[in-house]
Amino acid sequence: MKTNHKTLHGIRVALTGGTSGLGLALMDELLARGASVAFVARHQRRLAEVAASRSRVAGIVGDIADKEDIYPLAMQISGLLGGVDVLVNNASALGPVPLALLADTACEDFETALATNLLGPFRLTRALLGSLTAAARERGGAVVLNVSSDAAIEPYPTWGAYGASKAALRHLSRIWDKELAAQHVRVLSLDPGDMDTPLHALAAPGDDPATLKRPADAAREFADAIETALQALRQSTTETVTTEGVRA
Ligand SMILES: NC(=O)c1ccc[n+]([C@@H]2O[C@H](COP(=O)([O-])OP(=O)(O)OC[C@H]3O[C@@H](n4cnc5c(N)ncnc54)[C@H](OP(=O)(O)O)[C@@H]3O)[C@@H](O)[C@H]2O)c1
Repeated sequence: MKTNHKTLHGIRVALTGGTSGLGLALMDELLARGASVAFVARHQRRLAEVAASRSRVAGIVGDIADKEDIYPLAMQISGLLGGVDVLVNNASALGPVPLALLADTACEDFETALATNLLGPFRLTRALLGSLTAAARERGGAVVLNVSSDAAIEPYPTWGAYGASKAALRHLSRIWDKELAAQHVRVLSLDPGDMDTPLHALAAPGDDPATLKRPADAAREFADAIETALQALRQSTTETVTTEGVRA
């Protein structure tokens, strides 16, 4: 198991959905590695509990599915952290609960899945792009991590709204990764695997929690991925500067 050497000391992370499941575990992993975190969730009481019991943390109430919330959220995140090196788009909606065949899915439930899982991450990333590219210029790199799912790839019956939204998010991530490469911003899309979380219990109430992955294990993998991406970006920035310096 990896030992903790505060390898993300000074890194400023914006995270959606930090009060439960993977988001909470990832926040704790990032804090243990030295990062500061501003996190977003809708329910004030739980958010306040989570924020009060941790240091280097700020909780912000907001709904990423609501477009009116996005700019105020981005302003608060940037202001509280003093910049953003990493954005994790983690908060998510299943669509219809219980899960339903597409033919039985209300358009409103489909819209909620798209608004939360696709448009919310798109809008928040756009709103924080200035902060991310500034961090990349000043510190050598920035990372956006969009939380994906195997449902983005496998056509599971009854997972239509969620699966379609996650498939679109995955493709959006790949395109954005190419578009932002020259600015030293990486956009990753990673599947954490089936975890024992409230979202999974809602989607598949029959599954035995003991057979599912611990969110803390996925959180370590994601924190490693963020670290690796930042290190690679910083390395490539140093090489570019050195090469240009030699040419000049
Ligand atoms: N669990 C799994 O097996 C599994 C498998 C593959 C992928 N994933 C992905 O992993 C990520 C985390 O899932 P999880 O299982 O940890 O979920 P979870 O336990 O249900 O936690 C969701 C978090 O997001 C927040 N949230 C939900 N909707 C929001 C909104 N509209 N605006 C702001 N915050 C919102 C929730 O707080 P509030 O309710 O207070 O807003 C909560 O903090 C998701 O992207 C999910 O699709 C999960």
